[in-house]
Amino acid sequence: MSHAATRYLEAKQTVDDRAYDRRVRDCLLDALGSSPTVLDIGCGTGTTLSWLLEWGVDAGTYHGVDADETVVAFARGVRPAACRYRGWPVTETERGATVGDLSVTFERDDAFTALAAADGLGCVIARSFADLVPVDDLLDAIEEALAPGGLAYLPITFDGGTIFQPDHPADEAVEHAYHGAIDAESGRDAHAGRHLIDAARDRDGDLLAVGGSDWVVRPRDGRYLADEAYFLECILGFVADALAETTVDGAADWLTTRRTQLAAGRLTYAAHGFDVLYQAPE
Ligand SMILES: C[S@@+](CC[C@H](N)C(=O)[O-])C[C@H]1O[C@@H](n2cnc3c(N)ncnc32)[C@H](O)[C@@H]1O
Repeated sequence: MSHAATRYLEAKQTVDDRAYDRRVRDCLLDALGSSPTVLDIGCGTGTTLSWLLEWGVDAGTYHGVDADETVVAFARGVRPAACRYRGWPVTETERGATVGDLSVTFERDDAFTALAAADGLGCVIARSFADLVPVDDLLDAIEEALAPGGLAYLPITFDGGTIFQPDHPADEAVEHAYHGAIDAESGRDAHAGRHLIDAARDRDGDLLAVGGSDWVVRPRDGRYLADEAYFLECILGFVADALAETTVDGAADWLTTRRTQLAAGRLTYAAHGFDVLYQAPE
């Protein structure tokens, strides 16, 4: 992953902050206990650590793994400093930090390898991750790693529904091509959220909570919050990559129009997501 992608993950944070479902989060916190062992798979730049601390999870262990060395190096270097900036007592360690009574480590690792090596976890977090891998394999691996009654929290799971406004005549065809390109990638699913809900419901544990977590990015007075213009630039880049693989009538005009609208602070974007909380059988 490039530094540009690291910036994308950081820019995503304010969008995710608005999107995540508070009711599902509250169910997680009710069930989590005071000193949980947490594994965050596909942790990216470690922004979920900031969520946990803000939500009062300040004891136990947090282990974030990501396949990409660049984001892990970024997480190790930047996340402890960001926690200190927010007022937490932080002691840097070789692989992360101690924040309050929470031991934090970040490691380059494959999610499935880390899950296979783990045992008796209190919670596995997979945020914006379940659309990248087959959901049944993911739930199997997570459940193997959890303690009886352990929790799987999968927020901001993409579920299709990509919307750009104002209207453009090629919108429907572009959305179809974009989701089709995601589905064509091995293991990926543009409607992972709904399939995750089905797969969790079919298991022996409890589907404790489900909520919508749609991304909505809109300009105010021609400006975007924080680094969200960059976030939108990246989303348009993902769509452009998909359009390059196929033929869509009006695609070139669609892209030019969207980029012009973004530069002018007139583009609104929304994407549908789900937050899922599952509890392994006792
Ligand atoms: C969309 S990002 C989400 C990052 C973070 N959870 C967040 O929400 O900001 C997906 C992350 O999963 C990582 N990833 C993809 N496949 C992986 C795998 N098999 N094992 C570990 N990490 C993986 C990518 O490197 C990327 O950082």
